[in-house]
Amino acid sequence: MNKNNNLIFGFLLFTILMLSAGRTFATPPLAYEGRRLYVSYCQLCHGTAGQGDGPLAKVMQIKPADLSTTIRARSDTILKKIITGRGKQTITGRDRHNLLSEAMPEWKDIFSDEQLQALIAYLRFMTNTSRHPLMGDPVVGMKLYHTYCQVCHGEEGDGEGIMTQLMGITPMDHTNPNETNPLSNADIINSILKGKGRYMPAWEGILSQEDAEALVSYIRLLAH
Ligand code: HEC
Ligand code: HEC
Repeated sequence: MNKNNNLIFGFLLFTILMLSAGRTFATPPLAYEGRRLYVSYCQLCHGTAGQGDGPLAKVMQIKPADLSTTIRARSDTILKKIITGRGKQTITGRDRHNLLSEAMPEWKDIFSDEQLQALIAYLRFMTNTSRHPLMGDPVVGMKLYHTYCQVCHGEEGDGEGIMTQLMGITPMDHTNPNETNPLSNADIINSILKGKGRYMPAWEGILSQEDAEALVSYIRLLAH
């Protein structure tokens, strides 16, 4: 590199860093946020896969619903009423939760409307039988994504990162299920560790198999 090129390169790098520094991360994807809420508030009874086999279920008189079989038939509106216990009289005239027993807590105003939407997005993701399973921890995955991937794939995973304009490349839009669903978890791990095409770098040596699995989970929740 001659001196001029060095200058240009330095300026480019500086610009990228300045652009990144002032940015706050966009709100996390709905299903990601929903999973976080589910793990803290619902998993206790409904279990990790929603099948009603959480640790508290064992000591309860009434078995928590197996969400993987019940909720497909429920609209978002009904699910909101079931979760909050709000507005129940108008549907059934019955006392609680649209016919459910008291064993399912009424969450009232504990969740904002956005959080309810997020919870429902995750319930739908979790109970979708054709989904690719989550592998590693998506919370770890999100951190890694923001550190290593967003510069090209974008803060929101939509493929609009800063580098795309600078380099004129089109990274995969990870929020589009039509793009990510055809790839198996193994395909994604392979692309992360070995690279893909000309500009998707191989991360082997920087990221471990476990890191790649965490990224897979985050990408799956992004594309929901
Ligand atoms: C203390 C245990 C407990 C917790 C915590 C809990 N549930 Fe439940 N849930 C139940 C039980 C028990 C039922 C079944 C009630 C019945 O059949 O009368 C149920 C039923 C449901 C149903 C209805 C299923 C259907 O379609 O028939 C939904 C939806 C649901 N729960 C969602 C949630 C969500 C979302 C959370 C977390 C915000 C949550 N539950 C937390 C115990 C729990
Ligand atoms: C330098 C820019 C860049 C960075 C950084 C980057 N990617 Fe990519 N990525 C691309 C491009 C470009 C493609 C499209 C590759 C092609 O098909 O030619 C791509 C494609 C992908 C694909 C689809 C691969 C396939 O099999 O079709 C996945 C998954 C992916 N990237 C994940 C990641 C993850 C996870 C990270 C962070 C660890 C990351 N990328 C970082 C540029 C980047």
